[in-house]
Amino acid sequence: MNTKKTILITGGAGFIGSHVVRLFVNKYPEYVIVNLDKLTYAGNLENLTDIEKAPNYIFEKGDIADSTYIQELFKKYAFDGVIHLAAESHVDRSIVAPMEFVITNVIGTVNLLNASKEAWKNNFEGKRFYHVSTDEVYGSLHDGSFFLETTSYDPQSPYSASKASSDHFVRAYHNTYKLPVVLTNCSNNYGPNQFPEKLLPLFINNICSNKSLPVYGKGENIRDWLFVIDHARAIDTVYHNGKTGETYNIGGHNEWTNIDLIRLLCKQMDEKLGRAAGTSEKLITYVTDRAGHDFRYAIDATKIKNELGWVPSVTFEQGLSLTIDWYLNNKAWMDKITSGAYASYYEQQYIKR
Ligand code: NAD
Ligand code: TYD
Repeated sequence: MNTKKTILITGGAGFIGSHVVRLFVNKYPEYVIVNLDKLTYAGNLENLTDIEKAPNYIFEKGDIADSTYIQELFKKYAFDGVIHLAAESHVDRSIVAPMEFVITNVIGTVNLLNASKEAWKNNFEGKRFYHVSTDEVYGSLHDGSFFLETTSYDPQSPYSASKASSDHFVRAYHNTYKLPVVLTNCSNNYGPNQFPEKLLPLFINNICSNKSLPVYGKGENIRDWLFVIDHARAIDTVYHNGKTGETYNIGGHNEWTNIDLIRLLCKQMDEKLGRAAGTSEKLITYVTDRAGHDFRYAIDATKIKNELGWVPSVTFEQGLSLTIDWYLNNKAWMDKITSGAYASYYEQQYIKR
């Protein structure tokens, strides 16, 4: 049996994508993993230095919104599968510049769907298009209920509206052309290599440099947090065992109000930095709320547990501690991002050699 597979992973230089690329490159030496990434401000190839020389890994710099480029890429490689993570991913940026979210998240996704459909020429045997999405498409909860796979879409931010639109296109291609798709909608991720615009890495970095911690509104909004490596494990599970045409919600049953989470972070940071208890909490500063700030997200992950056997591998306390340790032990990674120096890595590694 020919087990060699060529898989396109988009957005593999980003936060979650880099963990997915690492997992697949290491776990499946018989696969060829092609990482396609535009290297926007959020893409950082230094996330992947440990596997960049692996014989089954290839990096391609390109834009999913460029349909000609994507068609050429699908001619260059005979992809058996696509795991699509590339996206503009930050809600605050989507409020300032929504069109970039339409271009990458909607048009980029449709370009990939078209290229897959054409390359596979209706012979979908052994093929799979996996679309990675977010729980934010379901909207904002104001009662004690949870998001199920059947919950109606009700996106509230330009980011979640663009992701919802891309999800609809993926399902429409399955319904109309029988493209063999599978989707997952995951809760908030945390862990190593997250760009310091998102809550946890931003606050860890600010605590290290004694900068204020800007809490939006009253800090009462609720998020459901999952360790990024558990998300990558779930993606591996669904890619290999998920049912075509299905959606699986991914989450860790781990809800925190922002302020409780920030207080826990401050406590762990004080202990790890050897600072007096209460030092980091003094940095908390309440600032103007995010426009249209979704109140609560909460995933019901029963389906992926019952049907595919996936459950998180770490508790939140373990995951948070591992995460803080990673940022404290990788100060150079953070310094290069905050100084902008990470942007020159691609040139050094891939162009000038
Ligand atoms: P990220 O912003 O860290 O990384 C996104 C990556 O996509 C970057 O490497 C960037 O360079 C690349 N990219 C952006 N535009 C591109 C384009 N036009 N062409 C090619 N590459 C492009 O994002 P993330 O947090 O790792 O999220 C990855 C995916 O997971 C997204 O689809 C996001 O919606 C989804 N998701 C994220 C979370 C979360 O908590 N971060 C939760 C659930 C789902
Ligand atoms: P974020 O990490 O941006 O993820 P998302 O908006 O996709 O959930 O934010 C997580 C929560 O933290 C969200 O409720 C907004 C809040 N937040 C702050 O209070 N201050 C900040 O500086 C940031 C970035 C987020």
